[in-house]
Amino acid sequence: MRPIGVFDSGVGGISVLRELVRLMPNENYIFYGDSMRAPYGSKTLEEVRQLTEEHVEELMGHHVKAVVIACNTATSADVSILRSRYPDIPIIGIEPALKPAVLCQENAHVLVLATPMTIREKKFQTLMAQYESQAQIWTRPCPDLVRFVERGEFSSRELYDYLNSVLADYRDKPVDAVVLGCTHFPFVKEAIRQALGKDVRFFDGGEGVARETRRRLQEMGELAPEDVTGQVQFINSDPDKLPLCQMLMESGKN
Ligand code: DGL
Repeated sequence: MRPIGVFDSGVGGISVLRELVRLMPNENYIFYGDSMRAPYGSKTLEEVRQLTEEHVEELMGHHVKAVVIACNTATSADVSILRSRYPDIPIIGIEPALKPAVLCQENAHVLVLATPMTIREKKFQTLMAQYESQAQIWTRPCPDLVRFVERGEFSSRELYDYLNSVLADYRDKPVDAVVLGCTHFPFVKEAIRQALGKDVRFFDGGEGVARETRRRLQEMGELAPEDVTGQVQFINSDPDKLPLCQMLMESGKN
């Protein structure tokens, strides 16, 4: 049974992998995380493209039937290049879940948290231009948040200090919805809620990506039979991260 390849700059994409497995438990998955070189979000566009293409090529070597780019940063930098390079394999990317956040209520106040590159790149800027007239949208790059998740820190003093400083300006603002625009961030959702000091609604793109992946595979007649149980294989450029991968996959952290 050909696997679905899932790629992220590190362990964050496991928040997407979990949605994929929840929706399609009968598929096989290979998850490649590049923790050795994470975070990608503060690298140059060229560096992110080169790394993403290298690792997607590796996944192709495993005869994957689809590739999920479970990284908002790599998607914004490279998804169109990858699609033209591999026209026969569906390449599903992820982008910040701005639409459902904006539409969650009338005149919503939405805070988008993502990496500097995701916020800066054209893909997100175009998306934001579409919704700007319908809601108050604030964007806040969190360049170092990825590092905490990569270290397996979900509630340390340093994490709270970091979030308190990054989110200080928003504690007094009437934020209704927070878009977790980086796949690492769902794992620190509770710490973000605490730092904001209010009960906000969270949105991330993981579930939408899983549905889109199933739709594409169904269209191609490539879905796995329903009576089999799939398997997940983790590969990481930093093998010391493999226990963290297992832990995030099994924990109830998002
Ligand atoms: N998980 C990646 C994302 O969704 C994090 C990027 C990074 O490594 O900075 O953007």
